[in-house]
Amino acid sequence: MKYSKEPAFINRSQEMVFLKNWIDERPENILFIYGPKSSGKTTLLYRFIEENLSNAAYDIKHFNLREIFLEQYKDFIRAFFEIDYSKAKGDLKEKREYDLKVFKLTVEALKGLEAQELDPFVIMKKELLKLEAKGRRPVIVIDELQALEGIYLNGQRELLKELFNFFVAMSKESHLCHVIIASSDGYFIERICNDSKLNKTSTFLEVNYLNKDDTYYWLNNLEKESAIKKYTLTPAQIDRVWETFGGSCWEISRFLGEIMMYAEGGAVPEAAFEEALRKVVIQMRSLHVDYAYTKKRQALFAAINAAMQTSPCFTYAAVSASLSEGFYDEEALHDELGNLVSQNFIAYNPVTAEYAVQGRSMEIGLTMFAEMIGR
Ligand SMILES: Nc1ncnc2c1ncn2[C@@H]1O[C@H](COP(=O)(O)OP(=O)(O)O)[C@@H](O)[C@H]1O
Ligand SMILES: [Mg+2]
Repeated sequence: MKYSKEPAFINRSQEMVFLKNWIDERPENILFIYGPKSSGKTTLLYRFIEENLSNAAYDIKHFNLREIFLEQYKDFIRAFFEIDYSKAKGDLKEKREYDLKVFKLTVEALKGLEAQELDPFVIMKKELLKLEAKGRRPVIVIDELQALEGIYLNGQRELLKELFNFFVAMSKESHLCHVIIASSDGYFIERICNDSKLNKTSTFLEVNYLNKDDTYYWLNNLEKESAIKKYTLTPAQIDRVWETFGGSCWEISRFLGEIMMYAEGGAVPEAAFEEALRKVVIQMRSLHVDYAYTKKRQALFAAINAAMQTSPCFTYAAVSASLSEGFYDEEALHDELGNLVSQNFIAYNPVTAEYAVQGRSMEIGLTMFAEMIGR
């Protein structure tokens, strides 16, 4: 089966080298992978695991929390533990493959956990020790950490603290397993780190949008990198894609798919191309219109726009300084910025403590919005 477009995987060699070096060292810290939404964190992780860890030396426990609705202790337990069907009847082979990904439990033990009679971390540790005894290296990967926010806000902050203290104990103290955590919510990462006093025991890897060279390379090699045969882009069109999306892989990829239907004789006609780009930026403006239905939020977007014009990476103080009307007190501004991070308007870098608007198209949408409301 041939598709007219395939997912690309451009460069990331530096990030791969970083990950390889980190995994080759005896575990002694937790690795946080952060970066704006859809910058390619999950893709990088999958590639890294596939290319380097898919052998008997490693036992990967991969949790993608995106698919799981986590609100309570019980959901949390269900996310990390699975009933061990290998002790039950049925299709063993299929079940066993699934079991590789999670901590195994008997039905009784699962019930004990849910009733809070057993300690989940004791069970996890036992599993890790078993693996070590077999000469395997456990790697715990938690993707989309921000899904735990529900639990955090639900008054179960302590549980998360315990989880992270467990990770510290397993990596820094007993060197039993590697722990990798990925999230686009840098704000949440920082809160978790502060809560668990993790800062000194963590390593951070930023996965950002592609740079200009990589993006231009991709757009000049659509057949090789994305299996696109229907068209090539002109140099001027490539400039326009870069101007509109920067190196945001997901948006570029979606746009390449959208213009496919206009392709004629190996090219995309100028009018259709521009119309498709126009639609994107209008959509980005609409996101701001929808969010900022109060004067207060409008003032906030205007302030973020002003801060962004001064510097693409800006601080809380820069936003606060541009927000003259006194709509937000300090705490409220922090909360609202955190909210914008979790809704992917802006990204927060937990290492530099700076914010940035999430991607070039979002920047354009924000500026259009600011102009629309006359700021
Ligand atoms: N290095 C890359 N080159 C090209 N496209 C990529 C690259 N990394 C990711 N993508 C594409 O970008 C999209 C988002 O990637 P994903 O890994 O889900 O981002 P994240 O986990 O950071 O939110 C996917 O469609 C993926 O195919
Ligand atoms: Mg992801």
